[in-house]
Formats: sequence, C-alpha cells, structure tokens
Amino acid sequence: MTSTAEGTAEAATRAVDFEGLRIEYDERVLEPRPWTARQSHWAAELITAAPPGPVLELCSGVGHIGLLAVSLAPRSLVCVDADPTACAYLRRNAAHAGIRVDVREGRMDEVLQADEHFAVVIADPPWVVSDEVGRFPEDPVTAIDGGPDGLDLVRACLDVVAGHLVEGGHALLQTGPDQPDAVTALVAAYDGLTVGEVRLEERGALVRIDRVLRS
Ligand SMILES: C[S@@+](CC[C@H](N)C(=O)[O-])C[C@H]1O[C@@H](n2cnc3c(N)ncnc32)[C@H](O)[C@@H]1O
Repeated sequence: MTSTAEGTAEAATRAVDFEGLRIEYDERVLEPRPWTARQSHWAAELITAAPPGPVLELCSGVGHIGLLAVSLAPRSLVCVDADPTACAYLRRNAAHAGIRVDVREGRMDEVLQADEHFAVVIADPPWVVSDEVGRFPEDPVTAIDGGPDGLDLVRACLDVVAGHLVEGGHALLQTGPDQPDAVTALVAAYDGLTVGEVRLEERGALVRIDRVLRS
C-alpha cells in the first residue's frame, strides 16, 4: 500500500492504493489500515457462497473494506456511516472504482428499513474503551470511541445483524484483539445467531457470525 498527499486545504486529501483501489481520505477520518484488506478477502469468500441478497457494510468509513470485498465477489453494496466526511470520500472512492454503492449517511439504527435484508454484513465499529481513546491521538474520537466498555457500537451492530441478516447469511465483525470472548457472549443472547470462527489479526480480531438455517 502506497500513499500520496495532494492539495493545500486545511484537510489535505490523501490517497492510498488498497490492493488496486484508489482510496482517498483526510485527517478528519480514520486512515485506511492495510491489514483490513484481510476482512475484505474473508468477506469475499463468504459472499461467494452466501444466499442471494445484497451486502451491507456498517461503519464503512471511506469504504475501502466493502469496496474491495465486492470488487473480488461482485454483489450490490449498501454502506452505512454516521460521518458526512467519510461518506463523501466513500462516494468518491466508489465512483473511482466504478462500483455503484447505496450510501446511507446516518446512524446505523436509523437508516435501514425494517424490511431490508442482507446476505452478508461487514462491520467495523469503534471499539476502543472511552477512557483509552487518548492512546490514539491520530484517530478521530468518533471513529474509535466504543463507549465505557468499548462495546456500545458492537452491540448496535449486533442489533442490526439480528434484524437484517438472512438465514444462512454471515456477518464479519471487526473487534479489539481482546474482545472476541465478550462478543461471543453478546451474540449468544440473540436467537438464531452464533459465532462460527474468530481470527486474531495484528491490530484486532475478526469474528464471523452466522445466522442458522431454520429448516
Ligand atoms: C473504526 S471506524 C471504521 C471506518 C472504516 N471501516 C475503516 O476501516 O477506516 C468506525 C466508523 O464508524 C462510524 N460510526 C460511529 N458510530 C456510528 C453509528 N452509530 N452508525 C453508523 N456509523 C457510525 C464512524 O463515523 C467511523 O467512520
């Protein structure tokens, strides 16, 4: 992954090469992390074998994870992020990649209709404990603050997964490296959802959540 900077505005636009996708961003949003391409690749594997239906990306930021996933395994993509700056970059990045994306700018609990269902959900919520966000001065607080126990936005993502994932579908959730056990306990409270696999990564973890088939 290489990066360049251009422009002289207060928040200069930067760009990275995310496995062939030009991804633009600036200091007001989270810088795309190279390792997150592994979430894209795993999501693409899940998409390839998933039931029919679109892909939903929660907390998409500037969109690189979902865009790479559907460039590898083409499906319709709906992206949700509460930050208008991130959504603006997402639209530009999608246009540059030639990928049509339905961008929902707003909180994840407010921008989906009850009757919308998805075959795969990709999620990258903020997961840093509020008291510890100062350890990451480069990152916008709203992009990383996960509340008192770091799990507020994880819970919000699980509520969306429970309400919008089709039977036989999968969610792929990014968490902190020490959070998979807590996430597994949270998932157990949802009827029909189960944790299928956890992969520890260098700066976090990926948790695959499955919606079981009823028949
Ligand atoms: C950890 S960042 C991930 C961004 C991107 N996936 C990446 O890898 O850079 C979390 C994102 O969640 C968004 N976010 C925070 N709370 C949200 C909410 N309630 N609904 C939707 N998006 C939210 C933030 O704006 C931020 O872009």
